[in-house]
Amino acid sequence: MQPPFLSTYVTPEEAVRRLRQSEIVALPTETVYGLAGDAASPEAVARIFALKGRPAHNPLIVHVHSIAQAQRYAHWNDMAESLAQRYWPGPLTLVLPVQPDHVLAGAVLAGGDSVALRMPAHQVMRKVLGLFGGVLAAPSANRSGRISPTMAAHVAEEFAGQALAIVDGGACLVGLESTVVDCTGSDPVILRPGSILIEQSQPHRPDASKPLKSPGLLSSHYAPRLPVRLNAQQVEAHEALLAFGAEPLAGALCSLNLSPTGCLQEAATNLYAMLRALDASAASAIAVMPIPEKGVGKAIMDRLHRAAAPRS
Ligand code: TXA
Ligand code: MG
Repeated sequence: MQPPFLSTYVTPEEAVRRLRQSEIVALPTETVYGLAGDAASPEAVARIFALKGRPAHNPLIVHVHSIAQAQRYAHWNDMAESLAQRYWPGPLTLVLPVQPDHVLAGAVLAGGDSVALRMPAHQVMRKVLGLFGGVLAAPSANRSGRISPTMAAHVAEEFAGQALAIVDGGACLVGLESTVVDCTGSDPVILRPGSILIEQSQPHRPDASKPLKSPGLLSSHYAPRLPVRLNAQQVEAHEALLAFGAEPLAGALCSLNLSPTGCLQEAATNLYAMLRALDASAASAIAVMPIPEKGVGKAIMDRLHRAAAPRS
């Protein structure tokens, strides 16, 4: 039997009251829902890690209300200034050296000397950040390794049986997690592709001898329950089909189309909700039609490759 749903939907004002007591609240952002807590509270941050089942070596993104607030936590530089001026508020996370006198809970940084900062655009998240006054640590509101939630109901489903407060801000418009850019060197390095497309002079080749710069980017991630088969040219009768474009393959047990017009932004918006829906079907696998790896298609295929990777 399924455990009962114990989640409660709360207002932004009630969310702030709970955040001040180091409680965790699931909040909407324009990318995906986040599991938010006071980034300065060791108790709150410990609760986030425990709820998600997140490994302690994986640092959290700190959400800010303004550029001025970000500058109090990070050693700001020209690269950060121009990216923030251009893309904030929005789905872009900047990794910068942390200020030595920061008041963040240590676990947020997972023992590192850099901090990931993001100024989200979603009006509900902005309202909560404004009323709260401090900064919020918020990883995506899914259990570690699973599909990120793009609707309040996904969060309730993900944490069914837990008494979690959720602010419902509707469906997330971007649908994929923020672009993460390392701004600690002389040139920007993309650690996680997203809907914001940043020019990178050199392709990023992680050095296998060094610790992972973004430990969250493990190969198996965003994983549905069912196996995922990419670049499907035909589909079996026992498979669920994730289609793309005007000519969806025929013959699947069930199918959903990311974008019948072939629009990559629409596909990004729909990706996680459709993966979740197909994952709940009686199919034995999810077959995914080819998706062009250009523009936001790169970020879509990045997530799908992780969803299809062998599970650890
Ligand atoms: O769109 C988003 O970014 C969402 C919403 C809720 O804001 N948040 C999100 O958080 O996706 P999370 O924890 O699921 O992913 C954060 C990623 C992880 O891959 C983590 O390893 C990386 O950012 N990260 C966090 N702090 C870092 C740091 N100091 N240096 C490098 N990577 C970092
Ligand atoms: Mg995540």
